[in-house]
Amino acid sequence: MCGIFGLITNQEIDIGKITLESIKRLEYRGYDSCGVATITDGKLFIKKDAGKIDEIHKKLKLDSFPNGSKLAVAHTRWATHGPPTKINSHPHVDCSNKIAICHNGIIDNFIELKEDLISKGHEFKSETDTEVIAHLIEEFMNMGLDFKEASKEAMKKCVGGFAIVACHVDYPNYLIVVRKESPLIVGIEEGKTAYCASDIPAFLPYTRKCYVLNDNEMAVLRAGEVEFYSLQEEKKISKELQEIEWSIDAAEKGGYDHFMLKEIHEEPLALRKTLKIPKDEIQKFAKILVNSEKIYITAAGTSFYASLAGKFIITRFLGKYIEAIECSEFQIQLEDCMENNAAVIAVSQSGETIDLIEAVRWAKEKKNAKILAITNIVGSSLTRYSDEAIVTRAGPEIGVAATKTYSTQVLTLAIIALEIAEILKSIPDEELEKYRKALAKTPDIVEHLLNNDIKKLKKIVRNLEKSHNFFFLARGISIATAKEGGLKLKEIACRFVEGYSAAHAKHGPISLVRKGFPIIFIAPPDETYERLVGNVMEFKARGGLIISVVVESDKIISELSDITIRIDQPASKYFNLFTPITFIPALQLLAYFYAVYVGLNPDQPQNLAKTVTVH
Ligand code: AGP
Repeated sequence: MCGIFGLITNQEIDIGKITLESIKRLEYRGYDSCGVATITDGKLFIKKDAGKIDEIHKKLKLDSFPNGSKLAVAHTRWATHGPPTKINSHPHVDCSNKIAICHNGIIDNFIELKEDLISKGHEFKSETDTEVIAHLIEEFMNMGLDFKEASKEAMKKCVGGFAIVACHVDYPNYLIVVRKESPLIVGIEEGKTAYCASDIPAFLPYTRKCYVLNDNEMAVLRAGEVEFYSLQEEKKISKELQEIEWSIDAAEKGGYDHFMLKEIHEEPLALRKTLKIPKDEIQKFAKILVNSEKIYITAAGTSFYASLAGKFIITRFLGKYIEAIECSEFQIQLEDCMENNAAVIAVSQSGETIDLIEAVRWAKEKKNAKILAITNIVGSSLTRYSDEAIVTRAGPEIGVAATKTYSTQVLTLAIIALEIAEILKSIPDEELEKYRKALAKTPDIVEHLLNNDIKKLKKIVRNLEKSHNFFFLARGISIATAKEGGLKLKEIACRFVEGYSAAHAKHGPISLVRKGFPIIFIAPPDETYERLVGNVMEFKARGGLIISVVVESDKIISELSDITIRIDQPASKYFNLFTPITFIPALQLLAYFYAVYVGLNPDQPQNLAKTVTVH
């Protein structure tokens, strides 16, 4: 939530243009206001306002910086403290207008700090927690510390999860960068330019060399160089330089109208890459699960639905129950009853979701749990708190709605499941081989849909234009698909959707059904099919508009449906188990085309941000 960016250089480069392009690449993290600041001739220049970056750029020419600017700090906001207004936009300044600060995260103790600073004569302009940091640094500088030391002391006083970048007019040769819980990466063009950002794509066109900051670390960025400090231990530290493998194309729209559409089209490749995760990485996970008496799986949002699908697939071969629990409920529900030494599978595309990070830290520290992470981001907080981590190979995902990260999460869990089957010999070798072949086919099935069915899916949304409420229903493993497909429509097309068990829907939700009420049934030909036929008939009898997602050869449910989406895959138990991967792109596309049809931007759903770093 919120994106921050900083740059300092000794080169003759167009800082304004780079800064604008970089915050545009972070806009998925928040888009209710933005701002940029630079220092020239001993003065701070700030441009900021409420609104989307393009709107503000039209008014303020965000890329036009004063001549001679050699540094920039910038921000794109997802409001927490104070509504999205010009005054609450970042950067924020101190009383003397010398310090500019951009911040992502929350300062939990800001009220207490603010009261103390006001009593010392500081005057606040905004309602944000961020402004406290600027005044706190100023306060320490008033006591005689330089900018670097004052920043260090100020950040030690702040409680919460945050990342900041700050500059000072009297110290124009460096930027201060601090991380505690919220993500922050430093990019470096040695001897020339240093960057910092909440996410890699911000500076990816300029450098592939980066350092990932850990919690309670501070970096001092100078033109083309960087030094690191530990906030707690008062000492300089060294960090490993990393090489980013992502291509810049992966972080750009590449001819598609939206990132979401591009990322859905990248699913076959992402799945193929994820299928190649080395066996020894998978084996480590599988062995821990085989040897653990108690296993939990936890995540938020889409990652939680991937976890539901994955749990179903793993238990098939493991023969042990896995408890799936949303990460925000993990500690509160398990405080008094979680066993020691359990295994916890933690799933998160960003690896930064604060509720998940807190859940795994608690499980590790208090219950001695083994943390097995599945994430898309190398070096994310989740990987640092885990005992083993598998990084999915989805590549950068910019669209706020998770798409390719979902299917690669389910795929990773399915690969682990088959590894468990091999270790435990829970099914005959020939069967295992058939499951493996079916799983290896999943990218081709998705690719077939993308090559052949786009027009048809686009057309379907016209029949649904006037509907504001939807059910997505299924049984068994497909409940995960129903929930995830429903979440996609809910979040990007702003429709009310209930993703639910088809069996359970009789116990209440069915009372909403009237003529034309759209119900999307996820109906692979698995062991739940016959009973699902009964559920389809119940909803049809009440006038529901039946839309089904079925396999190519389906006869019964498609016959009962008003609209049918066919997925070209064999009607076989080996393929059925992986329908959370092969059926979901059709639902992602349906949500995408629906949002576009009703005039919404699927990449920027209202009130959402890609990475949720607040409770
Ligand atoms: C996905 O479309 C959603 N925007 C959201 O539910 C997301 O999946 C959730 O916030 C979890 O994020 P994570 O995978 O980065 O932990």
